[in-house]
Amino acid sequence: MTDDFVLDVTRIREEARQKMEAGAVTDTYGLDKHRVIGVLNEVIATEVVCWLRYTRHAISATGIDRAQVSQEFTEHAAEEMQHALMAAERISQLGGAPDFDPTTLAQRAHTDYTTPSDEDLRTMLENNLLAERIAISTYQEIIRWLGDHDPTTRRMMETILEQEEEHADDIIDLLGV
Ligand SMILES: [Fe+2]
Ligand SMILES: [Fe+2]
Repeated sequence: MTDDFVLDVTRIREEARQKMEAGAVTDTYGLDKHRVIGVLNEVIATEVVCWLRYTRHAISATGIDRAQVSQEFTEHAAEEMQHALMAAERISQLGGAPDFDPTTLAQRAHTDYTTPSDEDLRTMLENNLLAERIAISTYQEIIRWLGDHDPTTRRMMETILEQEEEHADDIIDLLGV
């Protein structure tokens, strides 16, 4: 059996030299870079909205299980902000501009900013579980779309997805369902 994978190192070295200003993005990059930057900006918006929702809920959580739920929301909020920063860093590597514009965050996000009027713990937990489930689905789609074309962005999204699944699982535990 022959292995037909042959790296043309000379060509790659030449191409790498020709477009130094493109930074980390080379000719072997398999996708439309601008499309990937656009999708990652939606991830930033989603994560910032999730950070806002968790932070708000952590502060206003009341009821018998307040301390435990509030602590979990605070931990999740910190991780959502970390996710936003990871996506922003990757956009920058791809030569794009991370979009944190607050005037468009809500419409660019995959998830909603919600505040239950009665500040009910169970409703808050359900709101956050729904948001996590939406993020899990959209991130899975993004990962499938990235495929082998951009392994670095895919790995980053897989890391984020893993944490969103943990968040959903944490909430299920708190809901006691
Ligand atoms: Fe997140
Ligand atoms: Fe999450």
